[in-house]
Amino acid sequence: MAKIIDGKAISNAIKDELKEYVEKKKKEGKTANLAVVQVGNDPASSVYVNNKKKACAYIGIGSSSYELPEDVTQEELLLLIDRLNKDEEITGILVQLPLPAHINEDTVIRKIDPGKDVDGFHPMNVGALSIGEDGFVSCTPQGIIELLKRSDIEISGRECVVIGRSNIVGKPMAMLLLRENGTVTVCHSRTKNLKEVCKRADILVVAIGKPKMIDHEYVKEGAVVIDVGIHRMENGKLCGDVDFDDVCSHCSAITPVPGGVGPMTIAMLMNNCCKNIS
Ligand code: GUN
Repeated sequence: MAKIIDGKAISNAIKDELKEYVEKKKKEGKTANLAVVQVGNDPASSVYVNNKKKACAYIGIGSSSYELPEDVTQEELLLLIDRLNKDEEITGILVQLPLPAHINEDTVIRKIDPGKDVDGFHPMNVGALSIGEDGFVSCTPQGIIELLKRSDIEISGRECVVIGRSNIVGKPMAMLLLRENGTVTVCHSRTKNLKEVCKRADILVVAIGKPKMIDHEYVKEGAVVIDVGIHRMENGKLCGDVDFDDVCSHCSAITPVPGGVGPMTIAMLMNNCCKNIS
């Protein structure tokens, strides 16, 4: 039976460490303030945004909300970001994605001051990661590295296969695994022989966005399986991109959904916010 990697417990431990750090910094008169921008009121985005604000409150980071109507113009949104960039009280800026179709996400991301880009989405931060320089790193892949390290799972020298090549997860995941000296393969929708490639993996990271797509036929006996997907099934329960019940008996460790990667994303966002305490 696989070890179940408890992302909730690990994220709680990280948040407690950060809380202590923030309290110490407060005594030196230093604080962090996160600006959270949401456009429209997509229910899923509202849940994420609320969880982020709750985590800030728990750790002792200030947060301010900017809720803009669905039909706000791109220009107005860019003006707000400009104002937040210049505001010395604000140490981090997060624009919740996705944005409505009439707004260009890339333009918005590029507008955020890279030094306040706690999501790590700005091309300057993405570039810094790819050449091994310091900068903000995308929270979900950074959270996965932290899960592996805190579960004493060796990355160096091991075969790591990432399924998915998004800018937010797949690509930065590959860069981070490489930085940890893993041997990295990135698979995507055009990959041939996906099963065979995945079966090579000592560490398989799945971010494809298809419920329960990965069954035991994709998994080498004893591999570590990290599931980034989250989907609501017809019965109301959540599931990942991995068929957990089917894969469980084949692997040495696996993240559950919910309670695996998800909570780590917020813990790493808080970690990024704490980098800017001044
Ligand atoms: N939407 C889904 N995930 C994320 C995230 O990590 N950051 C932001 N800003 N929006 C998201």
